[in-house]
Amino acid sequence: MFFFKEGFNQAKFRRDIVGINKKVPLIKGGYKTCVNLDNAASTPVLRPVLYKVNEFMDWYSSVHRGTGFKSQVSTHVYDTAHTIVGEFVKADLKSNCVIFVKNATEAVNKISYRLGLSKDDIVLTTLMEHHSNDLPWRSKAQRVYVDVDGSGALDYTDLENKIKRCRGRLKLVSVSGASNVTGYKSDLSRIALMAHREGVPVLVDGAQLVPHSPLDMKPDRHPEHIDYLVFSAHKMYAPFGTGVLIGPRRTFLRDAPEYTGGGTINIVTRESVEWAGLPDREEAGSPNVVGAVALAAVIQYLSKQDMKSIENYEKELTSYILKKLKEIKGLRVYGENDPSRLQNRVGVVTFNLDGVPHGLVAAALAWEDGIAVRNGCFCAQPYLLNLLGLKQHQVSQLVFKKKTGDLSNMPGMVRVSLAAYNNRSDVDRLAACLQKIKSMAKSGQLAKRYTFSRQTGTYYPRDTKADPKDIFKFH
Ligand code: ALA
Repeated sequence: MFFFKEGFNQAKFRRDIVGINKKVPLIKGGYKTCVNLDNAASTPVLRPVLYKVNEFMDWYSSVHRGTGFKSQVSTHVYDTAHTIVGEFVKADLKSNCVIFVKNATEAVNKISYRLGLSKDDIVLTTLMEHHSNDLPWRSKAQRVYVDVDGSGALDYTDLENKIKRCRGRLKLVSVSGASNVTGYKSDLSRIALMAHREGVPVLVDGAQLVPHSPLDMKPDRHPEHIDYLVFSAHKMYAPFGTGVLIGPRRTFLRDAPEYTGGGTINIVTRESVEWAGLPDREEAGSPNVVGAVALAAVIQYLSKQDMKSIENYEKELTSYILKKLKEIKGLRVYGENDPSRLQNRVGVVTFNLDGVPHGLVAAALAWEDGIAVRNGCFCAQPYLLNLLGLKQHQVSQLVFKKKTGDLSNMPGMVRVSLAAYNNRSDVDRLAACLQKIKSMAKSGQLAKRYTFSRQTGTYYPRDTKADPKDIFKFH
């Protein structure tokens, strides 16, 4: 499928974001247009994606099951979406298949079952990972973690040594394409070369990479080929419940799928089962055709805008935010903080403000100026604790405290994550609000305006009539 590149038009991209002008309540009363700087968690939907979904709904019907014309349309749309997704990341679709799941987490879980790992096998992953590229491996094989340095960057010498040391038992090298904490991008070509020299396949968690950079899985025979790729549509402007797993067809053909049932078979007798072809045998139950439409539609949109131009724009904005944050005394950015060193990063920037708890900074950004960020450990606790330099005994104390139900003083950071629709004025609002938060903390105002719950570990505004429960009603 070829999409004509129209080039990146930032103003149009921003206009196309659903909810971009939504006003949210402030602590002082009144409303202000929100700024969303939490794109690493989930991006908003693009209007053309929503329109495409609406257009499709007239034709919505069962997939791979019905004889009605609408079913035939839905089946065709669903199957075509797999091809569009595979071509977007240049997967070789003769030997690889695209499987739709519900998100990247489910994709890693699925492949962890399908690799036929035994307890003595080793999966090499890194200390930089999201829990979703760590926990699924724990029950299937031995894990070995590649180190990161003090700034959170991957240690490639350690990676190479560990690949060699695990020779014979190493079954997979599984790395994130870009960190959801520091924004560090892994050098995927280098990692693939190292792993393939030892005959070991590579899995890339592309959740934070695919929406922000062009990605080429490369042909199977290429030494820098990516063997397995996972990513999520809700982080790329198509939040309709689709995730993606791409990998060699042979991986999925050697065994029964881990989920079975409707749609996965050719023939079932009382004694035997013949599994269907790919991807059907891996997509048990009625598939999410609406999610598939949304993902294909966003790929069409992003391809027309051109992923390289999107990447360049986001780099420029990342440089701008790093410069603005540098101007704030007492603010410490974790990971790479040099505005001119953008080669190996995406626009995820994580920080702490001296003397102000991360949860309080995040709450104040939301309630003082309508700015959405995320705080805490971002589903990457081992990486966070390492970046914060916590020692093992401190971690043990925290675990104990958490078990008692006291969530005060939990370690964490504040995270800002950019996307192509954000602009400098979003960043300016963030920087101005952080300065305001600093002076409010100094004058004691912040403590007066917000209260902390030990049970939830969250700061709440003391005096506000705005209640999220009043906003959206089902009746
Ligand atoms: N993995 C997502 C995040 O980092 C949810 O926020």
